[in-house]
Amino acid sequence: MKLIITGGAGFIGSHVVRIFVNKYPHYTIINLDKLTYAGNLQNLQDLEQQPNYRFIKADIANRENIFKIFEEEKPDSVIHLAAESHVDRSIRNPLEFVTTNVIGTVNLLDAARSIWQPLDSAQGGNCFYHVSTDEVYGSLGDEGKFTEQTAYDPHSPYSASKAASDHFVRAYYDTFKMPVKLSNCSNNFGSHHFPEKLIPLCIHNIKNGKPLPIYGKGENIRDWLWVEDHARAIDAIFHNGKVGDTYNIGGNNEWKNIDLVKLLCDIMDEKLGHAAGESAQLITYVTDRAGHDFRYAIDSSKLQTGLGWQPTSDFRKALADTAQWYLDNEEWLNNVTSGEYLKYYEEQYSR
Ligand code: NAD
Ligand code: TYD
Repeated sequence: MKLIITGGAGFIGSHVVRIFVNKYPHYTIINLDKLTYAGNLQNLQDLEQQPNYRFIKADIANRENIFKIFEEEKPDSVIHLAAESHVDRSIRNPLEFVTTNVIGTVNLLDAARSIWQPLDSAQGGNCFYHVSTDEVYGSLGDEGKFTEQTAYDPHSPYSASKAASDHFVRAYYDTFKMPVKLSNCSNNFGSHHFPEKLIPLCIHNIKNGKPLPIYGKGENIRDWLWVEDHARAIDAIFHNGKVGDTYNIGGNNEWKNIDLVKLLCDIMDEKLGHAAGESAQLITYVTDRAGHDFRYAIDSSKLQTGLGWQPTSDFRKALADTAQWYLDNEEWLNNVTSGEYLKYYEEQYSR
Protein backbone atom coordinates (compact mmCIF):
# COMPACT_ATOMS: atom_id res chain seq x y z
CA MET A 1 0.00 0.00 0.00
CA LYS A 2 1.38 3.38 -1.01
CA LEU A 3 -0.56 6.09 0.77
CA ILE A 4 -0.41 9.86 0.31
CA ILE A 5 -1.52 11.78 3.42
CA THR A 6 -2.02 15.48 2.63
CA GLY A 7 -1.58 18.08 5.37
CA GLY A 8 0.54 15.66 7.40
CA ALA A 9 2.68 18.47 8.83
CA GLY A 10 -0.34 20.12 10.43
CA PHE A 11 -2.05 19.48 13.76
CA ILE A 12 -4.33 16.51 13.04
CA GLY A 13 -2.33 15.30 10.04
CA SER A 14 0.83 14.82 12.13
CA HIS A 15 -1.06 12.54 14.55
CA VAL A 16 -2.54 10.57 11.64
CA VAL A 17 0.86 10.18 9.92
CA ARG A 18 2.44 8.99 13.17
CA ILE A 19 -0.23 6.32 13.74
CA PHE A 20 0.01 5.03 10.16
CA VAL A 21 3.83 5.00 9.97
CA ASN A 22 4.19 3.16 13.30
CA LYS A 23 1.20 0.81 13.02
CA TYR A 24 1.63 -0.19 9.37
CA PRO A 25 5.37 -0.66 8.70
CA HIS A 26 4.53 -2.46 5.42
CA TYR A 27 2.80 0.69 4.04
CA THR A 28 4.75 3.48 2.35
CA ILE A 29 3.46 6.75 3.77
CA ILE A 30 4.05 9.97 1.81
CA ASN A 31 3.27 13.17 3.66
CA LEU A 32 2.38 15.83 1.05
CA ASP A 33 2.23 19.32 2.54
CA LYS A 34 2.84 22.90 1.42
CA LEU A 35 4.18 23.89 4.86
CA THR A 36 2.05 26.98 5.34
CA TYR A 37 2.24 28.86 8.65
CA ALA A 38 0.29 25.91 10.14
CA GLY A 39 2.53 23.14 8.84
CA ASN A 40 5.70 22.32 10.74
CA LEU A 41 8.03 19.41 10.04
CA GLN A 42 9.19 19.58 13.64
CA ASN A 43 5.85 17.88 14.36
CA LEU A 44 7.21 14.70 12.75
CA GLN A 45 10.89 14.79 13.71
CA ASP A 46 10.59 11.41 15.43
CA LEU A 47 9.60 9.76 12.12
CA GLU A 48 12.36 11.15 9.90
CA GLN A 49 14.48 7.98 10.03
CA GLN A 50 11.57 5.57 9.50
CA PRO A 51 12.08 3.68 6.21
CA ASN A 52 8.36 3.70 5.36
CA TYR A 53 7.98 7.52 5.64
CA ARG A 54 8.71 10.28 3.11
CA PHE A 55 7.87 13.97 2.82
CA ILE A 56 6.99 15.90 -0.35
CA LYS A 57 6.62 19.67 -0.15
CA ALA A 58 3.88 20.60 -2.60
CA ASP A 59 0.88 22.87 -2.95
CA ILE A 60 -2.38 21.00 -3.70
CA ALA A 61 -3.60 24.10 -5.55
CA ASN A 62 -0.81 23.62 -8.14
CA ARG A 63 -2.69 21.28 -10.47
CA GLU A 64 0.14 20.50 -12.88
CA ASN A 65 2.52 19.60 -10.07
CA ILE A 66 -0.07 17.44 -8.27
CA PHE A 67 -0.73 15.49 -11.49
CA LYS A 68 3.04 15.00 -11.96
CA ILE A 69 3.46 13.74 -8.39
CA PHE A 70 0.55 11.27 -8.73
CA GLU A 71 1.90 10.06 -12.09
CA GLU A 72 5.35 9.47 -10.57
CA GLU A 73 4.30 8.05 -7.20
CA LYS A 74 1.17 6.14 -8.26
CA PRO A 75 -0.37 6.08 -4.75
CA ASP A 76 -2.99 3.40 -4.03
CA SER A 77 -4.89 5.65 -1.66
CA VAL A 78 -5.14 9.20 -0.33
CA ILE A 79 -6.11 10.54 3.09
CA HIS A 80 -6.77 14.23 2.48
CA LEU A 81 -6.37 16.60 5.43
CA ALA A 82 -4.56 19.58 3.85
CA ALA A 83 -6.66 22.69 4.30
CA GLU A 84 -6.79 26.24 5.49
CA SER A 85 -8.46 25.54 8.82
CA HIS A 86 -9.01 28.71 10.88
CA VAL A 87 -12.41 30.42 10.78
CA ASP A 88 -11.05 33.87 11.73
CA ARG A 89 -8.53 33.77 8.88
CA SER A 90 -11.30 32.73 6.48
CA ILE A 91 -13.20 35.89 7.40
CA ARG A 92 -10.14 37.94 6.47
CA ASN A 93 -9.20 36.08 3.29
CA PRO A 94 -11.96 33.83 1.88
CA LEU A 95 -10.25 33.29 -1.48
CA GLU A 96 -7.30 31.49 0.09
CA PHE A 97 -9.82 29.00 1.50
CA VAL A 98 -11.43 28.48 -1.91
CA THR A 99 -8.02 27.95 -3.48
CA THR A 100 -6.75 25.32 -1.06
CA ASN A 101 -9.93 23.71 0.25
CA VAL A 102 -12.03 23.60 -2.93
CA ILE A 103 -9.64 23.79 -5.92
CA GLY A 104 -6.97 21.82 -4.07
CA THR A 105 -9.45 19.02 -3.31
CA VAL A 106 -10.68 18.87 -6.92
CA ASN A 107 -7.05 18.75 -8.13
CA LEU A 108 -6.38 15.75 -5.87
CA LEU A 109 -9.59 14.01 -6.97
CA ASP A 110 -8.70 14.50 -10.64
CA ALA A 111 -5.09 13.43 -10.14
CA ALA A 112 -6.23 10.23 -8.37
CA ARG A 113 -8.88 9.68 -11.06
CA SER A 114 -6.25 9.91 -13.78
CA ILE A 115 -4.22 7.02 -12.34
CA TRP A 116 -6.92 4.82 -10.75
CA GLN A 117 -8.33 3.19 -13.88
CA PRO A 118 -10.77 1.51 -14.07
CA LEU A 119 -12.40 3.51 -11.32
CA ASP A 120 -14.95 0.98 -10.13
CA SER A 121 -15.40 1.83 -6.47
CA ALA A 122 -16.10 -1.78 -5.57
CA GLN A 123 -12.99 -3.36 -7.09
CA GLY A 124 -9.82 -1.32 -7.35
CA GLY A 125 -8.70 -1.39 -3.70
CA ASN A 126 -8.13 2.37 -3.95
CA CYS A 127 -9.55 4.87 -1.49
CA PHE A 128 -9.84 8.66 -1.47
CA TYR A 129 -10.61 9.56 2.16
CA HIS A 130 -11.67 13.17 2.66
CA VAL A 131 -11.36 14.56 6.21
CA SER A 132 -13.92 17.24 6.97
CA THR A 133 -15.60 19.16 9.75
CA ASP A 134 -18.94 19.29 11.56
CA GLU A 135 -19.03 23.04 10.77
CA VAL A 136 -20.55 22.20 7.35
CA TYR A 137 -23.83 21.43 9.15
CA GLY A 138 -24.16 25.00 10.44
CA SER A 139 -25.28 25.89 13.93
CA LEU A 140 -27.55 24.14 16.47
CA GLY A 141 -29.88 25.67 19.04
CA ASP A 142 -30.01 24.31 22.60
CA GLU A 143 -31.23 20.86 21.52
CA GLY A 144 -30.30 18.14 19.03
CA LYS A 145 -27.12 16.85 17.39
CA PHE A 146 -25.71 16.69 13.88
CA THR A 147 -26.21 13.31 12.20
CA GLU A 148 -24.90 12.17 8.82
CA GLN A 149 -28.34 13.14 7.44
CA THR A 150 -28.30 16.75 8.66
CA ALA A 151 -28.61 19.18 5.73
CA TYR A 152 -25.56 21.32 5.00
CA ASP A 153 -25.85 24.94 6.14
CA PRO A 154 -22.35 26.46 6.39
CA HIS A 155 -21.99 30.01 7.71
CA SER A 156 -18.31 30.93 7.60
CA PRO A 157 -16.10 31.09 4.52
CA TYR A 158 -14.12 28.21 6.09
CA SER A 159 -17.16 25.96 6.51
CA ALA A 160 -18.51 26.98 3.08
CA SER A 161 -15.22 25.91 1.49
CA LYS A 162 -15.22 22.59 3.37
CA ALA A 163 -18.87 22.01 2.43
CA ALA A 164 -18.03 22.62 -1.24
CA SER A 165 -15.13 20.17 -1.05
CA ASP A 166 -17.38 17.52 0.58
CA HIS A 167 -19.92 17.97 -2.23
CA PHE A 168 -17.20 17.50 -4.86
CA VAL A 169 -15.99 14.31 -3.19
CA ARG A 170 -19.53 12.86 -3.14
CA ALA A 171 -20.17 14.06 -6.70
CA TYR A 172 -17.07 12.12 -7.87
CA TYR A 173 -18.45 8.99 -6.18
CA ASP A 174 -21.82 9.40 -7.92
CA THR A 175 -20.47 10.52 -11.29
CA PHE A 176 -17.21 8.62 -11.74
CA LYS A 177 -17.55 5.78 -9.18
CA MET A 178 -14.55 7.27 -7.41
CA PRO A 179 -13.94 5.11 -4.29
CA VAL A 180 -14.39 7.76 -1.61
CA LYS A 181 -14.97 7.88 2.15
CA LEU A 182 -15.69 10.97 4.24
CA SER A 183 -15.79 11.96 7.88
CA ASN A 184 -17.03 15.11 9.59
CA CYS A 185 -15.46 15.74 12.97
CA SER A 186 -16.03 18.12 15.87
CA ASN A 187 -13.41 20.46 17.42
CA ASN A 188 -10.11 18.74 18.18
CA PHE A 189 -7.59 19.52 20.91
CA GLY A 190 -4.18 18.08 21.75
CA SER A 191 -0.47 18.51 21.18
CA HIS A 192 0.94 20.30 18.08
CA HIS A 193 -2.17 22.49 17.71
CA PHE A 194 -1.32 25.89 16.27
CA PRO A 195 -1.80 28.52 19.02
CA GLU A 196 -4.38 30.59 17.18
CA LYS A 197 -7.21 28.17 18.08
CA LEU A 198 -8.96 28.60 21.42
CA ILE A 199 -7.29 25.93 23.59
CA PRO A 200 -3.61 26.32 22.61
CA LEU A 201 -4.04 30.12 22.44
CA CYS A 202 -5.27 30.20 26.03
CA ILE A 203 -2.52 27.86 27.28
CA HIS A 204 0.08 30.06 25.56
CA ASN A 205 -1.42 33.29 26.90
CA ILE A 206 -1.82 32.01 30.46
CA LYS A 207 1.82 31.00 30.42
CA ASN A 208 2.80 34.49 29.28
CA GLY A 209 0.34 36.39 31.50
CA LYS A 210 -1.54 37.75 28.46
CA PRO A 211 -5.31 38.32 28.14
CA LEU A 212 -7.57 35.40 27.18
CA PRO A 213 -9.89 36.78 24.47
CA ILE A 214 -13.43 35.39 24.79
CA TYR A 215 -15.65 36.19 21.81
CA GLY A 216 -19.06 37.64 22.73
CA LYS A 217 -20.41 36.28 26.03
CA GLY A 218 -18.47 33.02 25.84
CA GLU A 219 -21.71 31.04 25.69
CA ASN A 220 -21.07 29.37 22.33
CA ILE A 221 -20.75 25.61 22.64
CA ARG A 222 -18.28 23.23 21.01
CA ASP A 223 -18.02 19.42 21.25
CA TRP A 224 -14.34 18.76 22.05
CA LEU A 225 -12.53 15.62 20.92
CA TRP A 226 -8.96 14.59 21.73
CA VAL A 227 -6.91 14.55 18.51
CA GLU A 228 -5.65 11.01 19.18
CA ASP A 229 -9.27 9.82 19.21
CA HIS A 230 -9.82 11.52 15.84
CA ALA A 231 -6.70 9.88 14.40
CA ARG A 232 -7.90 6.45 15.64
CA ALA A 233 -11.29 7.08 14.04
CA ILE A 234 -9.60 7.94 10.72
CA ASP A 235 -7.63 4.68 10.93
CA ALA A 236 -10.86 2.71 11.58
CA ILE A 237 -12.81 4.40 8.78
CA PHE A 238 -9.97 4.18 6.26
CA HIS A 239 -9.62 0.43 6.82
CA ASN A 240 -13.16 -0.66 7.68
CA GLY A 241 -15.56 2.10 6.61
CA LYS A 242 -17.90 1.56 3.67
CA VAL A 243 -16.97 3.09 0.30
CA GLY A 244 -19.24 6.05 -0.48
CA ASP A 245 -20.20 6.52 3.19
CA THR A 246 -19.83 9.43 5.59
CA TYR A 247 -19.08 9.05 9.30
CA ASN A 248 -19.60 11.72 11.96
CA ILE A 249 -16.90 11.85 14.66
CA GLY A 250 -17.45 13.64 17.97
CA GLY A 251 -16.44 13.63 21.61
CA ASN A 252 -19.93 13.67 23.16
CA ASN A 253 -18.28 16.39 25.21
CA GLU A 254 -20.01 19.78 24.97
CA TRP A 255 -18.55 22.82 26.67
CA LYS A 256 -19.48 26.50 26.71
CA ASN A 257 -16.34 28.40 25.72
CA ILE A 258 -16.21 30.31 28.99
CA ASP A 259 -16.53 27.14 31.12
CA LEU A 260 -13.82 25.43 29.09
CA VAL A 261 -11.46 28.39 29.48
CA LYS A 262 -12.14 28.48 33.25
CA LEU A 263 -11.31 24.75 33.49
CA LEU A 264 -8.10 25.40 31.57
CA CYS A 265 -7.28 28.26 33.95
CA ASP A 266 -7.70 25.88 36.95
CA ILE A 267 -5.43 23.30 35.31
CA MET A 268 -2.79 25.93 34.51
CA ASP A 269 -2.95 27.43 38.03
CA GLU A 270 -2.13 23.98 39.41
CA LYS A 271 0.67 23.36 36.92
CA LEU A 272 2.28 26.79 37.28
CA GLY A 273 1.93 26.86 41.07
CA HIS A 274 -0.32 29.92 40.93
CA ALA A 275 -2.94 30.80 43.55
CA ALA A 276 -6.39 29.44 42.66
CA GLY A 277 -8.22 31.91 40.39
CA GLU A 278 -5.09 33.76 39.24
CA SER A 279 -5.20 32.72 35.55
CA ALA A 280 -8.96 33.38 35.32
CA GLN A 281 -8.22 37.06 35.94
CA LEU A 282 -6.79 37.14 32.40
CA ILE A 283 -10.22 36.41 30.87
CA THR A 284 -11.18 39.35 28.62
CA TYR A 285 -14.47 39.57 26.74
CA VAL A 286 -13.94 40.91 23.20
CA THR A 287 -16.12 41.68 20.16
CA ASP A 288 -17.90 38.56 18.92
CA ARG A 289 -16.76 36.73 15.76
CA ALA A 290 -18.87 37.64 12.71
CA GLY A 291 -21.40 34.89 11.94
CA HIS A 292 -20.34 32.99 15.09
CA ASP A 293 -22.05 29.56 15.12
CA PHE A 294 -23.81 29.05 18.47
CA ARG A 295 -23.52 25.33 19.09
CA TYR A 296 -21.96 22.22 17.53
CA ALA A 297 -22.75 18.70 18.80
CA ILE A 298 -22.13 15.45 16.99
CA ASP A 299 -24.05 12.19 16.99
CA SER A 300 -21.33 9.63 16.24
CA SER A 301 -23.45 6.52 16.86
CA LYS A 302 -22.92 5.26 13.29
CA LEU A 303 -19.15 5.14 13.88
CA GLN A 304 -19.51 3.76 17.40
CA THR A 305 -21.91 0.93 16.59
CA GLY A 306 -20.66 0.25 13.06
CA LEU A 307 -16.90 0.30 13.62
CA GLY A 308 -16.58 -0.05 17.41
CA TRP A 309 -14.84 3.32 17.93
CA GLN A 310 -15.17 5.17 21.27
CA PRO A 311 -13.80 8.55 22.35
CA THR A 312 -11.57 8.77 25.43
CA SER A 313 -13.69 9.33 28.52
CA ASP A 314 -11.32 11.36 30.73
CA PHE A 315 -11.51 14.84 29.20
CA ARG A 316 -9.90 16.66 32.14
CA LYS A 317 -6.86 14.37 32.00
CA ALA A 318 -6.50 14.75 28.22
CA LEU A 319 -6.74 18.54 28.60
CA ALA A 320 -4.20 18.55 31.45
CA ASP A 321 -1.83 16.36 29.39
CA THR A 322 -2.25 18.77 26.48
CA ALA A 323 -1.39 21.75 28.71
CA GLN A 324 1.67 19.85 29.97
CA TRP A 325 2.81 19.18 26.39
CA TYR A 326 2.83 22.92 25.67
CA LEU A 327 4.74 23.62 28.89
CA ASP A 328 7.31 20.95 27.95
CA ASN A 329 7.69 22.18 24.36
CA GLU A 330 8.54 25.81 24.69
CA GLU A 331 10.88 25.71 21.68
CA TRP A 332 8.06 24.45 19.45
CA LEU A 333 5.79 27.26 20.67
CA ASN A 334 8.48 29.89 20.14
CA ASN A 335 9.13 28.66 16.61
CA VAL A 336 5.52 28.64 15.47
CA THR A 337 4.63 31.92 17.13
CA SER A 338 7.43 33.91 15.54
CA GLY A 339 7.45 35.70 12.19
CA GLU A 340 4.37 35.70 10.02
CA TYR A 341 2.02 34.46 12.72
CA LEU A 342 3.00 37.13 15.22
CA LYS A 343 1.92 39.87 12.81
CA TYR A 344 -1.45 38.16 12.43
CA TYR A 345 -1.79 37.76 16.17
CA GLU A 346 -1.13 41.42 16.83
CA GLU A 347 -3.73 42.43 14.22
CA GLN A 348 -6.21 39.91 15.55
CA TYR A 349 -5.86 40.92 19.13
CA SER A 350 -5.81 44.67 18.64
CA ARG A 351 -9.17 44.81 16.93
P1 NAD B 1 -3.89 22.71 10.32
O1 NAD B 1 -4.20 24.10 9.88
O2 NAD B 1 -3.21 22.48 11.63
O3 NAD B 1 -2.99 21.97 9.23
C1 NAD B 1 -3.26 22.05 7.86
C2 NAD B 1 -2.08 21.48 7.10
O4 NAD B 1 -2.38 21.60 5.70
C3 NAD B 1 -0.77 22.24 7.35
O5 NAD B 1 0.29 21.34 7.51
C4 NAD B 1 -0.59 23.05 6.07
O6 NAD B 1 0.78 23.30 5.75
C5 NAD B 1 -1.25 22.16 5.03
N1 NAD B 1 -1.72 22.92 3.86
C6 NAD B 1 -2.48 24.05 3.87
N2 NAD B 1 -2.68 24.49 2.60
C7 NAD B 1 -2.05 23.59 1.78
C8 NAD B 1 -1.90 23.49 0.38
N3 NAD B 1 -2.41 24.40 -0.45
N4 NAD B 1 -1.22 22.43 -0.13
C9 NAD B 1 -0.68 21.49 0.71
N5 NAD B 1 -0.76 21.57 2.05
C10 NAD B 1 -1.44 22.59 2.59
O7 NAD B 1 -5.28 21.94 10.25
P2 NAD B 1 -5.88 20.79 11.18
O8 NAD B 1 -6.55 21.40 12.32
O9 NAD B 1 -4.84 19.75 11.40
O10 NAD B 1 -7.01 20.21 10.21
C11 NAD B 1 -6.72 19.16 9.29
C12 NAD B 1 -7.98 18.80 8.56
O11 NAD B 1 -8.98 18.37 9.47
C13 NAD B 1 -8.60 19.97 7.76
O12 NAD B 1 -9.08 19.47 6.54
C14 NAD B 1 -9.72 20.45 8.66
O13 NAD B 1 -10.75 21.03 7.87
C15 NAD B 1 -10.16 19.15 9.31
N6 NAD B 1 -10.78 19.29 10.63
C16 NAD B 1 -10.15 20.00 11.63
C17 NAD B 1 -10.74 20.06 12.88
C18 NAD B 1 -10.07 20.79 14.03
O14 NAD B 1 -10.65 20.89 15.12
N7 NAD B 1 -8.84 21.27 13.88
C19 NAD B 1 -11.97 19.44 13.13
C20 NAD B 1 -12.57 18.73 12.08
C21 NAD B 1 -11.96 18.66 10.85
P1 TYD C 1 -11.67 27.84 17.39
O1 TYD C 1 -10.67 27.13 18.25
O2 TYD C 1 -11.21 28.92 16.48
O3 TYD C 1 -12.45 26.71 16.58
P2 TYD C 1 -13.81 26.84 15.67
O4 TYD C 1 -14.04 28.27 15.37
O5 TYD C 1 -13.42 26.08 14.45
O6 TYD C 1 -14.88 26.20 16.48
O7 TYD C 1 -12.79 28.44 18.35
C1 TYD C 1 -13.48 27.64 19.26
C2 TYD C 1 -14.52 28.51 19.95
O8 TYD C 1 -13.84 29.49 20.74
C3 TYD C 1 -15.38 29.29 18.97
O9 TYD C 1 -16.71 29.39 19.51
C4 TYD C 1 -14.74 30.67 18.92
C5 TYD C 1 -14.18 30.83 20.31
N1 TYD C 1 -12.94 31.61 20.43
C6 TYD C 1 -12.84 32.63 21.39
O10 TYD C 1 -13.79 32.91 22.14
N2 TYD C 1 -11.68 33.33 21.46
C7 TYD C 1 -10.60 33.07 20.66
O11 TYD C 1 -9.55 33.75 20.76
C8 TYD C 1 -10.72 32.03 19.69
C9 TYD C 1 -9.58 31.72 18.77
C10 TYD C 1 -11.90 31.31 19.62
